[in-house]
Amino acid sequence: MDKVVVSLGGSVIVPDDDDDIFLKRFAEMVWSLCDRYQLYLVCGGGRIARYYIKVGRALGLQESDLDELGIMTTRINATLVARVLREKGIDKVPTDILEAHRMERKGKVVVMGGTVPGHTTDAVSAMLAKEVKAVRIVNGTSVDAVYTADPRKDPKAERLPRLTHQQLYELVNVGLHGAGPSNVFDRLGAQIARDNHIDIYIVDGRDLADMRAAIEGRPIKGTVVSD
Ligand code: UTP
Repeated sequence: MDKVVVSLGGSVIVPDDDDDIFLKRFAEMVWSLCDRYQLYLVCGGGRIARYYIKVGRALGLQESDLDELGIMTTRINATLVARVLREKGIDKVPTDILEAHRMERKGKVVVMGGTVPGHTTDAVSAMLAKEVKAVRIVNGTSVDAVYTADPRKDPKAERLPRLTHQQLYELVNVGLHGAGPSNVFDRLGAQIARDNHIDIYIVDGRDLADMRAAIEGRPIKGTVVSD
């Protein structure tokens, strides 16, 4: 059975936009796929993480403490997603990659958040994909594809349907790298996927038709990153 790691941004799970309705529909999609694919869901922290990190930073906490706050919010989101999946979701949220791999069970979905300070859940997804030998990573995010610039800020931003791993790496290897930054994919994650030749399908996480297509490796509206 093919294994697929889904990196689910916090901005997809709890953006405060009919989240309960979305999560029920998301669970139905996962239920319909988890007998054909071994799925791993890695949940981000989104705006709740960013809020705690902002307050902690204003209080002068060190970066590793801010990261710990971020990790805890990812685990809250993972707990929520695991419970929504009911009998198909494994209740215990693993705290590291090897534990997640050990918990793999046919027909059940492993749901986790962050692991240790210093990266985001995109990097966790890439590490997990490498560990379990996943056929692809699906990144469900708040934009519908990779663009040349942030489409919410720059009207001239162009959509990129395909990218090489190296192109993605160069695109995300810019800017500041402290706790809480939000990019289309994390730099370390892009590096791990590149070095291990793992395709990344980047889609709007709230577009369940595109999420399903990405999990199944069919053509998507989003961006496919490959060698
Ligand atoms: P996220 O993975 O949610 O980062 O982790 P993000 O880029 O804000 O992603 P979206 O918006 O959900 O898609 C939130 C923060 O938690 C810490 C980092 O500070 C990260 O920015 N974190 C997370 C870690 O330090 N280690 C982890 O394994 C995961």
